[in-house]
Amino acid sequence: MPERSAPVGVFDSGVGGLSVIKALVERLPHEDYIYLGDTARLPYGTKAKSTIVRFSIENAEFLLSKGVKLIVVACNSASATALDALRARFDVPIVGVIRPGAEAAVQATTSGSIGVIGTEATINSGCYEQEILRLRPGAHVLGKPCPLFVPLVEEGWLDDPITRQVAERYLSAFRAPRVDVLILGCTHYPLLAGVIADVVGPQTAIVDSASTVAAAVEGLLLRMSLANDTNSPGTHRFYVTDLPAKVKRIGRMFLGIDDLSIELVRLGSN
Ligand code: DGL
Repeated sequence: MPERSAPVGVFDSGVGGLSVIKALVERLPHEDYIYLGDTARLPYGTKAKSTIVRFSIENAEFLLSKGVKLIVVACNSASATALDALRARFDVPIVGVIRPGAEAAVQATTSGSIGVIGTEATINSGCYEQEILRLRPGAHVLGKPCPLFVPLVEEGWLDDPITRQVAERYLSAFRAPRVDVLILGCTHYPLLAGVIADVVGPQTAIVDSASTVAAAVEGLLLRMSLANDTNSPGTHRFYVTDLPAKVKRIGRMFLGIDDLSIELVRLGSN
């Protein structure tokens, strides 16, 4: 049984998962966090399930080698394709982002027509639709992969005419009354929330899973008597598998921390 004082592990294919770390730190400030961004092998969202599963297992093994008590799979693509494999293989509790995102959407919808955007791996897996239908049978789910959004965010083009054009092209089907809620089913999309909201219009509510994931982690830690009972602020350690300099710049965008200290690690085949 892990100790209460052990850190919470979070992994993503890159630095997008820092949006989840941010929500976790806000909700659970006394926990210690270890973050792994597999920047050497990003993107996951265009890769085959078997590849994403293999990478995810290596990421979880790394976090477990650091003694984490729980793993958050912040990456939607990994949550969509590798969660069952991870849970079958490892004993620690593992939290993905799909169910919390689906819960947030089902709470927010009135009409039961929900849109979801994400990577090809996430949308093609059908996982959001499955979770939404489990929570609200009869709901109508419209999914669309938006692969160009990830490189636009990585380039820092968060509010740029080109980003707006791409968003117009991807998102015209998500205006009300077609859907009244749109799930941002990818770690990077919350940074484009302003542009996305402009394009879909005020009648479509935008939800992402970061804050609902943090609530799910809190519930799990409390139920398992694993919440850290210290009053001092938690610590954070960040690891990536490639390019710490570029990652620092993008990490700053996600987390708003200037002096992000990041260590480089080598995993499996990268
Ligand atoms: N982290 C990924 C996700 O949330 C986006 C980037 C990638 O394709 O690896 O799906």
